[in-house]
Amino acid sequence: MADQNLGAYNIADLREMALRRVPKGMFEFVDRGTEDEVALRNNRAAFERIKLRPRTLVDVSGRSQEITLFGNKQEMPIAIAPTGTAGLMWYEGEIGLARAAAEAGIPFTLATGSMTAMEKVADEAGGRLWFQLYLWPDRALSHKLVERAKAAGYEALVVTVDGAVSGNREYNLRNGFTVPFTFTARNITDVLMHPRWMFGVLGRYLATTGMPRYENYPSELKNKITARPMGRSMLKSDSLNWDDLRVLRKMWPHTLMVKGILHPQDAILAADCGADAVIVSNHGGRNLDSSMAPVEVLPEVVDAVGKRTTVIVDSGFRRGSDVVKGLALGANAVLIGRATLYGTAAGGQAGAARAIAIFREEIDRVMALIGCRSVAELGPEYLQFIDPAFRPAGYGKRSLKLLDSNRAVAEG
Ligand SMILES: Cc1cc2nc3c(=O)[nH]c(=O)nc-3n(C[C@H](O)[C@H](O)[C@H](O)COP(=O)(O)O)c2cc1C
Repeated sequence: MADQNLGAYNIADLREMALRRVPKGMFEFVDRGTEDEVALRNNRAAFERIKLRPRTLVDVSGRSQEITLFGNKQEMPIAIAPTGTAGLMWYEGEIGLARAAAEAGIPFTLATGSMTAMEKVADEAGGRLWFQLYLWPDRALSHKLVERAKAAGYEALVVTVDGAVSGNREYNLRNGFTVPFTFTARNITDVLMHPRWMFGVLGRYLATTGMPRYENYPSELKNKITARPMGRSMLKSDSLNWDDLRVLRKMWPHTLMVKGILHPQDAILAADCGADAVIVSNHGGRNLDSSMAPVEVLPEVVDAVGKRTTVIVDSGFRRGSDVVKGLALGANAVLIGRATLYGTAAGGQAGAARAIAIFREEIDRVMALIGCRSVAELGPEYLQFIDPAFRPAGYGKRSLKLLDSNRAVAEG
């Protein structure tokens, strides 16, 4: 039994396993935030300020966490967020993570900055694939990526808009890990102290395709890139604006999502440009250290655009209860970033699958314990706000409506 669980009973266990397996510089790239890591901590703290209000004596024996997202039914209300480094956690980690997602019937998002080419992931993993796009200053090169994603059969495009410049991640500079790798006395020691990673990940790349690099980049860029500390983007995208989104809308015939929205007005603008979904995100606390937690602004965004676009949320989700809170605040689905990366680092596809299974079990248990049978039933009436400022619009009204309907059931 322990084997099936990989010895991990929660996401924190998988994180500990990742910490032991992966070189420190690499682990910190995944695990940490930016500057003083206030946003990173607040992403977690925000969940603690929202409590669940359980109902009781509800027959929850037939409960389900199924949702319908962009017309497709899926058994769980989560999807995998784009993370450029899955392929550094495990050899071709993107494929393992995508396969684990496919097995669970949830979408997987491949990042522009992945170590495995999008065509290879599509060929070898299958499942529901989304492609995340960073726009480069040379828009024509970015548009080539979009065409490739279309040809490779990706069903959705996720345009990330919260990185006009890269976050100030000082630890990356200290650790000196770069892509493509350049070795320093410090990071060689770090790698030598993690032999499972050195042989199992780096060694396998060196024996097959060579030093890991950004395989989605067109050759014009791939061959020109000089090594940079991880997370320091090679190419500024500070000229990105709403016109770019309109152009992408015209180019991309399938689902289009805008990731990195934290203001209801921007959600409205994204919907006006024809986006099918907004992803409320602060990039897992990795870019702007003074940004609010996405769940703090989620109710306002849902209020602004929830009737005409899908609203997805991410940043800081580590427990099933977090996912239930995100859905009760009005999100249609939740993206998972670090949690499945820890799983990938701990055990490749099996580790990623374990992370997903942990969410499945935890969401199911929480839904049972709050007396909720389906995601459609989840709403703010299941929430208690420690800080009244978070209360979604209409919170009081909805609670009363539920009370009335319960009374009707009790009386009827
Ligand atoms: C190591 C790492 C790499 C990431 N790379 C990208 C990326 O390439 N593109 C992107 O849009 N978001 C990227 N993100 C942000 C995630 O998509 C997501 O917004 C974030 O991880 C959610 O927070 P969580 O990790 O607390 O779940 C990255 C996050 C991590 C941890």
